[in-house]
Amino acid sequence: MNAIDDKDFGTPERESATRVTLEIDGVSVTVPAGTSVMRASAEAGINVPKLCATDSLEAFGSCRVCLVEIDGRKGYPASCTTPVEAGMKVRTQTPKLADIRRGMLELYISDHPLDCLTCPTNGNCELQDVAGLVGLREVRYKKGENHLELKKDESNPYFTYDPSKCIVCNRCVRACEETQGTFALTIDGRGFESRVAAGQNEAFMDSECVSCGACVQACPTATLTEKTVIRIGVAEHSAITTCAYCGVGCAFKAEMKGSEVVRMVPWKDGKANHGHSCVKGRFAWGYATHRDRMLKPMIRKKISDPWQEVSWEEAVAYAAGEFRRIQQSFGRDSIGGITSSRCTNEETYLVQKLVRAAFGNNNVDTCARVCHSPTGYGLKQTLGESAGTQTFDSVMQADVIMVIGANPAAAHPVFASQMKRRLRQGAKLIVVDPRTTEMVKGAHYQADYHLKLKPGTNVAVIDALAHVIVTEGLLKEDFIAERCEPESFRQWKDFVSRPENSPEAMAAVTGVPAELLRGAARLYASGGNAAIYYGLGVTEHAQGSTMVMGIANLAMATGNVGRAGVGVNPLRGQNNVQGSCDMGSFPHELPGYRHISDSTVRAEFEAHWGVALNPEPGLRIPNMFDAAHDGSFRGLYVQGEDIVQSDPNTQHVVDALMAMECLVVQDIFLNETAKYAHVFLPGSSFLEKDGTFTNAERRISRVRKVMPPKAGYADWEARQLLGNALGYPMYYAHPSEIMAEIAALTPSFRGVTYEKIDRLGSVQWPCNENAPDGTPIMHVEQFVRGKGRFMITKYVATDEKVTQRFPLILTTGRILSQYNVGAQTRRTDNVRWHSEDRLEIHPHDAEERGIREGDWAGIESRSGQTVLRATITDNVQPGVVYTTFHFPESGANVITTDNSDWATNCPEYKVTAVQVMPVTQPSAWQKDYQRFNRQQLELARAEESGA
Ligand code: SF4
Ligand code: SF4
Ligand code: SF4
Ligand code: FES
Repeated sequence: MNAIDDKDFGTPERESATRVTLEIDGVSVTVPAGTSVMRASAEAGINVPKLCATDSLEAFGSCRVCLVEIDGRKGYPASCTTPVEAGMKVRTQTPKLADIRRGMLELYISDHPLDCLTCPTNGNCELQDVAGLVGLREVRYKKGENHLELKKDESNPYFTYDPSKCIVCNRCVRACEETQGTFALTIDGRGFESRVAAGQNEAFMDSECVSCGACVQACPTATLTEKTVIRIGVAEHSAITTCAYCGVGCAFKAEMKGSEVVRMVPWKDGKANHGHSCVKGRFAWGYATHRDRMLKPMIRKKISDPWQEVSWEEAVAYAAGEFRRIQQSFGRDSIGGITSSRCTNEETYLVQKLVRAAFGNNNVDTCARVCHSPTGYGLKQTLGESAGTQTFDSVMQADVIMVIGANPAAAHPVFASQMKRRLRQGAKLIVVDPRTTEMVKGAHYQADYHLKLKPGTNVAVIDALAHVIVTEGLLKEDFIAERCEPESFRQWKDFVSRPENSPEAMAAVTGVPAELLRGAARLYASGGNAAIYYGLGVTEHAQGSTMVMGIANLAMATGNVGRAGVGVNPLRGQNNVQGSCDMGSFPHELPGYRHISDSTVRAEFEAHWGVALNPEPGLRIPNMFDAAHDGSFRGLYVQGEDIVQSDPNTQHVVDALMAMECLVVQDIFLNETAKYAHVFLPGSSFLEKDGTFTNAERRISRVRKVMPPKAGYADWEARQLLGNALGYPMYYAHPSEIMAEIAALTPSFRGVTYEKIDRLGSVQWPCNENAPDGTPIMHVEQFVRGKGRFMITKYVATDEKVTQRFPLILTTGRILSQYNVGAQTRRTDNVRWHSEDRLEIHPHDAEERGIREGDWAGIESRSGQTVLRATITDNVQPGVVYTTFHFPESGANVITTDNSDWATNCPEYKVTAVQVMPVTQPSAWQKDYQRFNRQQLELARAEESGA
């Protein structure tokens, strides 16, 4: 996979059962009906010059460069807007056409700065290419009016708009509309005066633009250009890889000059993103080479000691020695490991192998514990597999889209663009969310129902929806009879039919008017293909697993599983959260979600790994913290996961880490957790290693190394060093060998190889003898568990009650420009959009407390206190406040509590009872944090400067 140039067919591919044969320049071509003459030509290897057309956008027909002659037609039709017809005879190259094209190009060039030699995109400019193609040799109009003096807009940190180079082809405007769905750009003015404008002639940074870069990619000239291209120059080689941010898993072409990234270009053949991206994946990769990267292994006895820089061998020997010493003193179970959803499948697999085989226990857990563990549990119980059911593309066949507790526009932006495209085509929308997010109303779409529930009442809502479906006869009886367990269905039906589950009875609990709930239920059950997409607003609750099962119940009851356009789709947060779960990161499961107590499965691993495995499930992350408090858990290896910032009840986490005798952190930065560590192992970024990520669609995609590991070893290599130092040898020459082992031991991965991923672009598991090329849609003929199982989902109010002392509910979420704990995005220009976490508060609640926009607001919960600036907005309902958690100094998790999902311990981040009051200074925790942070940075710097 190494190609800079992707062929551009000029207009999008058409799907049609009808094939049409025509003749182009004497060549017979057969294409699907609806294909343009331009695309048919390109498919036959005949390239018609073009400027305003590109195959990611519908044809526009403005530049008149692509004209052709067609037998029996008058004039010169534009090939991009002319559909093929059977028997058509087309000529693309005649003297007359050449004349016209040269004339058109002459006009464009006469109003274009002729600075090709010094232009940043010299050699990568379509205008330049087309001028060459049509044989333009001179420009006769030299002194006319022009736009050469127009001022550049440099406001966006990542790209420049130079209007002097604009040919007004409209590709950027259409990209913003069709691809991204933001509608930020227009063509301002008429005729000669017309120019591209962001909003009302604003700077890009002041407009609606979300910096996705689709316009930059679509621009055929240097008008919209990445600043890195201007600075570094045009790339010389490239490799296809996968974004290291969210669970959409966009494929990118990393364009390189030597080992320096010039730009990341979304790969048009990427099956999750089809050539689109968001601001994070396309532009926010500078963190990978940021000066804060830690590149040397370090050790220290106590966290108050300065770090001591050592060799890799010394660091792993020290860590291994400490782990063995602790085990000798406190027992085999006194140490454990935490895997990361940001690392590759292969690296994650090795961590759990290290824990099970070298530590000799099952004390391994993953950050999925705190996000989607209820998805794993709930979907396994009902459908039989711990994963979403669809491809992202499936949404294009959905008639009704229900979004529950998710804001894909912020957290899964590329999928949100696809979803919005479907909504613009007319799909109906139900949003279940306590806040009014961008998913409720946006450019050319609006939710048909917004169920603005009280945080913590999801299960009451799902039961009420089910009640309507059952009692109004909207069940899909034939599907249920054929595909589901009759007894569990009968019990569920009896349960949801009870009057206490009616929308009317539940209205007081949920805060959602009964008629809205009834309308939404009817629409979901009878509006055609209905698909549910959900996020952490479902899982991060005391009843997270119950809600996931409630969603699966609803889909089964209405027959909305097992085909395109329907399904149950968890929107996974981090790039490899699906993969980290698949790879056996949970303490009770071996790779492929097989229980550790299953002696047959264990025997397979024992034979392969050459060790006896402990049949007892190990500790989950919160149990590790509790055991650390008790003194029975003293050593922890944390791979690429910042538990201090991301886990709830920060003080409890910190106290647990302070009780450790050996905390080993492997990360690319000295993150908040590393500040409590005794051994620091430098991590490698996604650009520095080979491997695979698995996205929210179960799609396994390649991560390709484009530069050497900055610290000397990729994470998978470092893991081998640790294994070897612990006396459990691991020798893999390449991550493909690790994948071969995963495939050999995991039925759903049996057919996965790097060769296959390279050949197909990506593969969705299960990929095995039954599905050699993977499985885009699950549960087609039958559920993975055989018959679908309905589960009783009784609503139980959370223990986290509002009281007079804590009268508001705090809920948390993400925003577009930042990512998770912000370790990556905070080290990029994305801070220009969001440089601090803010507390959103309703105007009534703010007024009652005397809080004005921008004031410091103190937030107190039963766990702790913090201070944030207030943003006053009616996006939140009265009684609810909201914040993000991207900055460590915000201390959002200082106030979240230890409450968690009953089945999986996923923390109840979404419901914390708080009081909010105006304050004038940071909280005591924040002051302590600042002090401790300063001290730790000095200890690290002291090492750097050799002090
Ligand atoms: S960067 Fe994206 S959102 Fe901004 S103008 Fe371009 S296409 Fe529109
Ligand atoms: S900015 Fe680029 S894409 Fe947009 S109209 Fe001008 S030349 Fe075309
Ligand atoms: S949508 Fe997600 S995977 Fe795609 S570019 Fe953005 S952050 Fe990366
Ligand atoms: S490419 Fe067909 S009119 Fe511009």
